[in-house]
Amino acid sequence: MIDAPLDHVAIVVRDLDAAIALYTTTLGFSLVYRELVPDQGVEAVGVRTGDAVIELLRPLDEGSPIAKYRGDAQTKLHHTAYRVDDIRVELERLKRAGVRLIDEQPRRGAHGNTIAFLHPKSTGGVLIELCQRENG
Ligand code: CO
Repeated sequence: MIDAPLDHVAIVVRDLDAAIALYTTTLGFSLVYRELVPDQGVEAVGVRTGDAVIELLRPLDEGSPIAKYRGDAQTKLHHTAYRVDDIRVELERLKRAGVRLIDEQPRRGAHGNTIAFLHPKSTGGVLIELCQRENG
């Protein structure tokens, strides 16, 4: 089982600046990072309150799967991410347990993390990301 803290909850948004303003100015979160993640085709912005991090995702290409997933909505919950100590060990264990993986090999995510997605068909419909921090 995954015995790990929730690293972040990711929301795909239509208007990134409006979403940042909502979370920071209105709700009082602090901005932790903002970066392009070309591998995932998104601009990612991390905002934090206490221990909770929300990752706002703006698709770089409106024809991409993540943009199609969001559709006409202003925002839509995209995935939950759990922190693990050794992502390769965890992926291997889950694969053996019959979980379908989107990423057989971990890849580079936002904020210097190494990440891998599990297939929502194996996780009750919610996209789950495993995430290993490179620098603690
Ligand atoms: Co994520």
